Amino acid sequence: SQMSNSENSLNILWHESPIQKLDRQEILQQKGCVIWLTGLSGSGKSTLACALSRSLHSRGKLTYILDGDNIRHGLNRDLSFSKEDRSENIRRIGEVAKLLADAGVICITSSISPYRKDRDACRALLPKGDFIEVFIDVPLDVCEARDPKGLYKLARAGKVKGFTGIDDPYEPPCSCEIVLQQKGSDSMSPSDTAEILISYLEKNGYLR
Ligand code: PPS
Repeated sequence: SQMSNSENSLNILWHESPIQKLDRQEILQQKGCVIWLTGLSGSGKSTLACALSRSLHSRGKLTYILDGDNIRHGLNRDLSFSKEDRSENIRRIGEVAKLLADAGVICITSSISPYRKDRDACRALLPKGDFIEVFIDVPLDVCEARDPKGLYKLARAGKVKGFTGIDDPYEPPCSCEIVLQQKGSDSMSPSDTAEILISYLEKNGYLR
């Protein structure tokens, strides 16, 4: 059912697995998908990913987090923060997320993923509906005030170059499945926002 279309796979055969996604999902009682979190550094991607994973796990659902920072320690340790390397970072994460979703897992990614084109390319890897893009819309000044790793301060001082939001772009989604926007001055509670995402999954048949 699925063919590799890469140019350099001319002499490589595609092996069809004897067990299909539907068979795996039957065991797991869930639908594999990718919950793609995007937003500035310090917007709360990792915190939300953890809250969501914890909540789904307690309902007996299989999740896996591809955390941006963690992936850059392993699979993507060879990549910098140049435009090209950020794109390659996101491309690889998209491919891994696709495999996990195909395995039936609810995969949660938490990378800045600043370029719309790169996120759209990941979306295109997945069956329709299975890529759920979530924009964590926290204004730059709020992220900067939080500055959990002190990186905004370094970026403002010119000690870190090409920092997203300071001297490197962030392209917010034009249309995505979910926008999480902070209302008022209280920051959103991670468990409340996790519930919003879980309602979405329920409504769209990803949990059973
Ligand atoms: S990207 O743009 O999606 O490839 O970035 P990502 O892999 O998510 O990595 C972002 C985290 O790396 C730290 N960091 C930087 N971020 C942005 N710009 C620059 N130049 C940079 N250098 C280091 C930063 O702590 C990000 O952490 P998060 O978790 O997003 O706050």
